[in-house]
Order: sequence, then C-alpha cells, then structure tokens
Amino acid sequence: MPLPPGPEAPPWLQLARWMTAPFAVLDECRARFGDAFTMRLWGLPRGIVIVSDPLAVKEVFGLGPDEAHAGEANVVLRPLLGEHSLLLLDGAEHLRQRKMILPAFHGERMHAYGQTMLDLTHDSIDRWPVGSRFAVHRPMQAVTLQVILRTVFGLEQGPRLAALADLLRRVLDIGSHPALLLHPLQRDLGPLSPWGRFLRLSDRAGAILRAEIRAGRERGTAGRTDVLAMMLDARDESGAPLSEDEVHDELVTLLVAGHETTATALAWALRWLLVRPELVARLREEIASAGGDPARIAKLELLDATVKEALRLQPVIPLVARVLQQRRTIGGLDLPAGSFVAPAIYLVHRRPSLYPEPERFRPERFLGWKPAAWEWLPFGGGLRKCVGAAFAVYEMKMVLAALLPRVEMRLARREVRARRRAVTITPAGGLPVIVSTRRSREAVATRAA
Ligand code: HEM
Repeated sequence: MPLPPGPEAPPWLQLARWMTAPFAVLDECRARFGDAFTMRLWGLPRGIVIVSDPLAVKEVFGLGPDEAHAGEANVVLRPLLGEHSLLLLDGAEHLRQRKMILPAFHGERMHAYGQTMLDLTHDSIDRWPVGSRFAVHRPMQAVTLQVILRTVFGLEQGPRLAALADLLRRVLDIGSHPALLLHPLQRDLGPLSPWGRFLRLSDRAGAILRAEIRAGRERGTAGRTDVLAMMLDARDESGAPLSEDEVHDELVTLLVAGHETTATALAWALRWLLVRPELVARLREEIASAGGDPARIAKLELLDATVKEALRLQPVIPLVARVLQQRRTIGGLDLPAGSFVAPAIYLVHRRPSLYPEPERFRPERFLGWKPAAWEWLPFGGGLRKCVGAAFAVYEMKMVLAALLPRVEMRLARREVRARRRAVTITPAGGLPVIVSTRRSREAVATRAA
C-alpha cells in the first residue's frame, strides 16, 4: 500500500521548509500532486498524508476514538503542556476529560465573559501610541492573556494577577520559538539556556496555578462563573473530580491553546480590514446599532462574517493531524494502521469551488451561507474540535467591536508576510501599524447612544 506521492527532498529539508514557509509548501504540493500528497518530515517515523478534498476531511473527522488518535500526533507538545493535557490524551481518557471541560465552553456561557472582554480591550486601547509605529500583535496578546486569566482562571485584578501575567508572558514567549518544538533542543542546559529558562519559569508559574487550584477547592466555588470553577465542580461518570495534576495541565493547555491563537487571528483580521476602509465603515455602523451590549454584538451578521472570513483566509493553524489506529480508506486512499493523516485547513479554505476568488478577503461570502464542518475548519473537527471555538469567535467579536469604532489606523508596511511562532502562523513583525486617531471610549459610547 504505497502512500500518495509527495516531495522527494530529504526529510530534514522538508521539515526546514515546513517550519519556515508552511503555506508556500502546501500551495506548491497541491499544484504538483493534487488534493492528497505525502510529506516526509524529519523526526516523524513515517510520511504524513495531507488531504484537502472536503469529503476526505469529512471521513477523517468522522473517525471514532479508537480509530484515530490526535494526542499521539501532538506528542511534541508534552513538555509544554503536561501529560494530562486534553491535546495529548487519546481514547477513553480523552473523552472523559473532554466531557468534563466542554460544558464550561458552551456558547450560552460566553455572555458572562463579554463585558470583561470589552473592558480589557478598551483599557488596552487607552495605552496605544498615536502617530508612531507599533506592532499590534503585542496588545492583542496582552488582551487575550488577560481575558484567559480573568474568565478561565477566575483571577481578580491585583498584584497576583499582574505577577502571574508577567511570568506567563515570559514563559509563553520562550515557548513560542519554533525550534523548541524539536526534541533535541528540549534539553535543560542550565538556567541561561532557552529550555532551562523555560522550565524554571514554568515551574514558578505552575506553583501559582496549583495554589489557585487548592484555594478554589478549600474556599468552594459558589458565585464563580469562570472555567476553573466549573472544572473544579465537574465530576465524571463514576462521580470522581479531576485531580490537581489534571486541572493544572488543563489550565496550561487552555492558556497555550487559547491565548496566542486568538491574538494571532485578531492580528490577521486587522491585516485585511485595514485595506478595506469601506467595510470598516459598514462594520462601525453595525457595531453602533448594538449599543455596547455583548449579547447583541455577538449576533451582528457582518461582524460574524468578518471573523469567519479572517479565520478562513489565514487560518492560524494550517493543518490538524491524526494517527490511524486501524487500516482505513480515506478519500479513496487505502492507508495502513499507524499512518499519519492530516486535513490541511489552509488548502480546504483556498478551494475556488468552495470559495470563489479564494485569495480575496470578502466577508460577504458568509452572509446567508453556513459552510459544512469539513468546508470551514479553522478549529479542526470531529471528536477533537477545538473546545474554545465559541469562546474564540466571541472574543474576536468583542475585541473588534471595541476597537474598530475607536481607532483609525493603517498598515506601516504594505506587504505582510506570514511567520511561524511555534504551532501558529502570525503576521511577520507582529503587524506594524500606525494609529492616526484614537477616540475616547466615552466619545464612541455617546455616538452609539
Ligand atoms: C482563533 C483561536 C483558536 C484557533 C484557531 C484554535 C484552533 C484549534 C485547533 C485547529 C485545534 C485542533 C483541533 C483538531 O485536532 O481537530 C484546537 C484544539 C484545542 N483548542 Fe483551540 N483554537 C483557538 C482558540 C482556543 C481557545 C480560546 C481555547 C480555550 C480557552 C482553546 C482550547 C483548545 C483545546 C483544549 C483543544 C484540544 C481539544 C481536544 O483535543 O479535544 N482553543 N484548537
């Protein structure tokens, strides 16, 4: 059973290109080999079969917990996330933890977080410089980090939150370096080496998180609406709670999976919006009609379409991988047990048959149209679909609703390249922009009223 053809370059070279230019690699391979091809990446025991025909993607997403594993494919993340992380578990253990975490991310629960998301964005904008160039990805990261610390971890404003935020920002900055995903570089060569520094800082952050978990258990969770409180209250079918290690690894996972990704998606959304001023004008009008109410903002149609289009055109994560546990036919290919198969989010999103003029940013294409789960998949799919998908979309809407009416800005550079930060693909240089006008929060609120 030969795997489909793919590039012949040696695996180390394929890995180097994949790490530095993932979109270009996918575009080239599809042009040469079609919808399915095999990449051979140094460090993987066998080739990884990339699929991009929506029906093949549907088949992958339909595989059961014993037919395909995603945790096994994410194993490089273990030192970052911990062995109990949802991203690394498979089979029954994955389902058990997923069921305990999922209710905390139910769409309806998001409304408890909307005002916090709006307020944190406004506080950030108050500090943006006017007239000078700055990288907008940074404040987006700061906002999404604060949002997680408040709404997921349940921390209140104060010195503890500030200390943890600072520590986590430093840990996440080191952890975002793509080279640290390579096993041989994950070695502790003392406190000055990147991995050594990473381990020491994450130990300190871990101690604070564990103290929070214990305090939550001792004090009880009455009156709390955050995700940590819900995780502490969750029970599995046998009535058992998550252990301290499990809650700790899940908090780290939610932080790592939820902060950089959302900040990057927002930076990409701004990248496209800043070259479509007439669309921004329409969005401002629509946002004003919601009168600052998070529940109404969440339902705005053009804003919803804009967020969807940003996640389509430049998906933050280019593909998701599974390891087949049994021989399977996927997209007409007969694949043996042990095969790596990966739906390429980026390639599905660039199919002209699904998305005419796929390179253009046209949110209007989503007005009145709901793509199937295997046609629009920035959050992956099936049993492994991102648990934070509703959270991320909601947060993106709140941030844009606070930002667009208050700030006039332009791109500092016309050309915006994509650059890898660990598993996410971000705008190079953090998307430098120049703000020409920054209105006060009150001025915008008055206009809306
Ligand atoms: C725009 C922002 C985000 C993007 C693009 C994104 C994307 C993804 C993708 C592609 C996956 C893998 C899905 C698969 O294998 O099929 C994933 C998994 C996951 N994401 Fe997100 N994510 C985002 C935000 C978030 C947020 C805000 C959270 C939580 C606060 C979160 C938590 C998780 C978790 C826990 C998983 C593992 C799910 C599992 O294995 O069962 N993500 N995400």
